[in-house]
Amino acid sequence: MERSRSFENPVVELRPLNIDMQVELFNLFQSIAANPRMSLHLPWILRDMTSTEAVQGLIVSKQKKEAAGVEFARVILSNSEIAGVISYSLNEDNSKHAEIGYFLGPTYTGRGIAVTALKVITSGLISQNLQPVLNIEYNNIASQKVAIKAGFEYSGDCILHNSRYYQYFFRRLG
Ligand SMILES: CC(C)(COP(=O)(O)OP(=O)(O)OC[C@H]1O[C@@H](n2cnc3c(N)ncnc32)[C@H](O)[C@@H]1OP(=O)(O)O)[C@@H](O)C(=O)NCCC(=O)NCCS
Repeated sequence: MERSRSFENPVVELRPLNIDMQVELFNLFQSIAANPRMSLHLPWILRDMTSTEAVQGLIVSKQKKEAAGVEFARVILSNSEIAGVISYSLNEDNSKHAEIGYFLGPTYTGRGIAVTALKVITSGLISQNLQPVLNIEYNNIASQKVAIKAGFEYSGDCILHNSRYYQYFFRRLG
């Protein structure tokens, strides 16, 4: 009973990416790369995150994007461990839209962590008068369920990177 309650409402902490996190993030990426079901939706991890130097480069690039005000990335901490990453970028064509992305390591799924992190990021965006948007691959059922639980609704299809995506807009605080 206690277990299921904490799974429904897990405690998560969001922190900016920091160089000190490179080894832990590299290990997280390795666990994702070793899991075909997850790396299917994260091809860039499989392709690019093959060394701690690559992870360091990613962290520096995210820090630069944040300083430029175009993308904001946070690690998701659960019980002081890096469970995943959530980020949003501001849409160049529509400055009111903030496109959110997220992922977890395979050992952290199934606990409601992504829903909680998404709700935290979403409420921050709403308070800045930004419209949170998710573009989710049509075959990514887990992410679509996360979106709906966090108060998003399907609003139509779009084609990105030559693939069909479902677009979800935020509708209500869950
Ligand atoms: C998306 C992601 C964060 C979800 O993690 P999570 O919140 O822990 O999700 P869960 O594993 O609990 O799955 C959510 C739901 O989808 C269901 N689900 C998971 N995989 C599924 C599949 N292949 N087919 C059907 N249902 C599936 C689960 O049973 C669960 O159902 P429930 O809510 O009814 O219990 C995680 O899967 C991930 O990091 N995926 C790779 C990256 C990614 O796709 N990011 C999203 C980009 S928009």
